[in-house]
Amino acid sequence: MEVIIAPSTGEASAEAARIVAALIRAKPAAVLGLATGSTPMRLYAGLIEMHTHAQLDLSQVTTFNLDEYVGLAPDHPQSYARFMRDHFFANVNIPPGRIHIPDGLAPDLPAHCEAYEAAIRDAGGIDLQLLGVGSDGHIGFNEPTSSLGSRTRLKTLTEQTIRDNARFFASPQEVPRHVITMGVGTILQARRCLVLAFGGKKAQAVANMVEGPVTADVPASVLQFHPRCALLIDEPAAALLKRSSYYRWVHANKPDWQRP
Ligand code: GLP
Repeated sequence: MEVIIAPSTGEASAEAARIVAALIRAKPAAVLGLATGSTPMRLYAGLIEMHTHAQLDLSQVTTFNLDEYVGLAPDHPQSYARFMRDHFFANVNIPPGRIHIPDGLAPDLPAHCEAYEAAIRDAGGIDLQLLGVGSDGHIGFNEPTSSLGSRTRLKTLTEQTIRDNARFFASPQEVPRHVITMGVGTILQARRCLVLAFGGKKAQAVANMVEGPVTADVPASVLQFHPRCALLIDEPAAALLKRSSYYRWVHANKPDWQRP
């Protein structure tokens, strides 16, 4: 795994936006896997900025979001569909027909999850999957002990995730207990993964993910198996890494041709 420790959240987000933009410029019909949460917000702002001021054209891009709450309509203020519209889609030119987000109101959830997997396959697979990390080590909404081979399906949130995400709702009781999420196996099939994690609250999950054993207890740790996974973190999120000086050394000596 490539670990990039940026001096600030802003610089980490700008670097992530450059990586995504470089992919879109090289492959205009790229298939992106997208994430929600507070972590990628500045990355999306960076892409909007490039779309508005630097001719970044997303008209051929296809997107698949990682996850959605079960029971929330797409226009619910806390739904991930609404988050994506407000923070990204409303300000770039991805055609609505190319945007895919799990439907939390689907009447037949297992069938919907299978169809979501089929749509990813039909689009040719995901070129670049963006990911955040939960404080319990989840990716998407794959909570600890998720099968490392899992596909898109229904999951029950941990109490820790409900507490973490309650800040967006009026009270913890309003956070849905169930979600639809791409599986760990789905995520692993993306050609590239780009993981962002910011702040001291993520330091333990980051250390477990990068330097701990691969275990379903920390679903993000399975990314150690991914052939092309980059992790962009700020200093507080890097605080518990044992080999941080090596990661900085690698980045400082990176050949120019490997930079976005
Ligand atoms: C949420 C989302 C994840 C996200 C993570 C971190 O529950 N399902 O996709 O990466 O938890 O969220 P945040 O970026 O707000 O810390």
